[in-house]
Amino acid sequence: MPSARPAAVIVLAAGEGTRMRSTTPKVLHALAGRTMLGHVLHAAEALDPEHLLVVVGHAREQVTATLTGKARAVVQESQDGTGHAVRVALETIPDVDGTVVVVPGDSPLLTAQTLQRLVEAHDLQQAATTLLTAVVDDPTGYGRVVRSGGSVQRIVEHKDADPATREIKEIGTSVYAFSARPLREALQRLTTDNAQGEQYLTDVIGLHKDAGLTVAATVAEDADETRGVNDRAQLADLARVLRDRIVAQHMRDGVAVLDPQTTWIDVDVQLAADVIIKPNTQLHGSTTVAAGAVLGPDTTLTDCTVGERATIRRTDGTQAVIGAQATVGPFSYLRPGTVLGDRGKIGAFVETKNAEIGDDSKVPHLSYVGDMTVGERSNIGAGTIVVNYDGQHKHRTTVGDDARVGSNNSLVAPVRIGDNAYTAAGSAITEDVPDGALGVGRERQRNIEGWTARKRPAKGEEPA
Ligand code: UD1
Ligand code: CA
Repeated sequence: MPSARPAAVIVLAAGEGTRMRSTTPKVLHALAGRTMLGHVLHAAEALDPEHLLVVVGHAREQVTATLTGKARAVVQESQDGTGHAVRVALETIPDVDGTVVVVPGDSPLLTAQTLQRLVEAHDLQQAATTLLTAVVDDPTGYGRVVRSGGSVQRIVEHKDADPATREIKEIGTSVYAFSARPLREALQRLTTDNAQGEQYLTDVIGLHKDAGLTVAATVAEDADETRGVNDRAQLADLARVLRDRIVAQHMRDGVAVLDPQTTWIDVDVQLAADVIIKPNTQLHGSTTVAAGAVLGPDTTLTDCTVGERATIRRTDGTQAVIGAQATVGPFSYLRPGTVLGDRGKIGAFVETKNAEIGDDSKVPHLSYVGDMTVGERSNIGAGTIVVNYDGQHKHRTTVGDDARVGSNNSLVAPVRIGDNAYTAAGSAITEDVPDGALGVGRERQRNIEGWTARKRPAKGEEPA
C-alpha cells in the first residue's frame, strides 16, 4: 500500500483551557521541552500533509507566534464548538479534496505512527469517517462510542448521555480521518441542539451513518497516547508518561539510566551509547552528550554539549561546551559561553561565564571565571576571582599556555598573563604579566617582633 499522504491536518487549539488557571494558553504549556501544541504539530508534520492548519481563538497572537514551518493559523472568532472549528478551517482551503485529519491541540502524546495507522485504515476502507477511539477505565467527561452489531453508530457526549450510555468505556479521542467532501457536507448540517449549545464535530459520525456512508473506527493500541490535558495534574501525569517513554528509548539505544524515575530528558536531547546518567539528572533543550560521558548525580544541563568520557556531577550548566575526558563538579555553575577543553577541569564551587578554558587547563576550586580566555595546560589557583566588571563595562582577561595563577588572586580585567608566567598567591593583578615572568601584586610580609607581649599582655600583667 502506498504511504497515505493526507490533504490536510487540522489541529484544534482555539479553546481557552480555563482549568489550567494560567495566563499561558493551555496548548502552550510544555512537557519534555516542547509545548503541547508543538508535540501535536510534530506528529502531524510526519504525515507530510499538503496543508497544516491550526485553529486558534483564545490568545491567538501568542499561539500563532509559536507556529513554524508549514503550520498556518486559522482564526475561529468565537468558540462555537469542535464542528464549527473544523468548518472554519476547511473554508480556508475550499478546493482541497482527499483525506482530512483532525487532532486536538491538547493531546501531546499522540504519535505519528498512530496517526499514520489511522490514515491507512481510512484509505483501505474508503470510509467517509474513520475515528480513533480508546478504551479507558474512567470515561467520565468523554464522548461515548455507541456501536451496534460491532459497528460505530454515533458518539454521544458525556453531558448528553443517559446513564446506560455513560457505562460505555469506549470513548472518542477527537482524532479523526475524514474524506473532505462528505465532511464538508455534514458540517453544513450540524445543529446546536445539545447540552452545550455547540456544533459538535462528533455529530458528523451520526450524520454519515444516517446517510449510509462508511464509518470506520480504529481502537488506539495505547490509550495513554490519546489522553488530553485539562488541568495541571493531568499535565504532570502526561509528563511522567512521556518521561518514561523517552528514557526507555534511550536505554534501548544503549544509555545507562540508573534511576529512570528521577531522570528527565527533553525530546530533542541527543545521547550516545554508553552514556551513564546518575540519579536526579535533568537534560534540557538541545543538549548533546558523547559516548561514555558520566552525568550526575544532581545535574541539570540546558543546551550543553558534552564530549566523550567527560564527567559532570552535581552541576548546573547552560550553553556550555565540555571537552572529551574533562571533569566538572561537584557544585559547579556553568553559565552561557563556557567552553572547557579536552581533559580540562572545572572543580568545586566554581562559576564560569564566557570562559574559554583550553585543553588540559584547570580551575579546580572556589573561583569566579567570567569573560576569560585560558590557554593550554594552565592552572588557575584556588579562590581566584576574575574582576571582569568595573561597574560600567565588562572586560576580558587572558591567560596564556602553561601559566600558573596563584591562589586567591584577583585578576582585574582587562589584563593578560603570558605563557609560562606565574602570579604570586594573594595577588591583585592589575597589569599584564609578560611571558615567563612572575607577577607579584601584593605587599611583602613584615613581622613585628614582640608585638603580642606589648599590645596583648596576659590578664593581670602590665604591658611590657
Ligand atoms: C471532545 C469531544 C469528545 C471527546 C474529547 C476527547 C466534541 C464535541 N467532543 O470533547 O467526544 O471524547 O474531545 O478529548 O468534539 N476547540 C476549538 N474550538 C471550539 C471548541 C473546541 O478549537 O469551538 C478545541 C479545543 O481547544 C480543544 C479541542 O477543540 O483543543 C477539543 O475541545 P474540548 O472543548 O476540549 O472538547 P471535549 O469536551 O474535551
Ligand atoms: Ca478536551
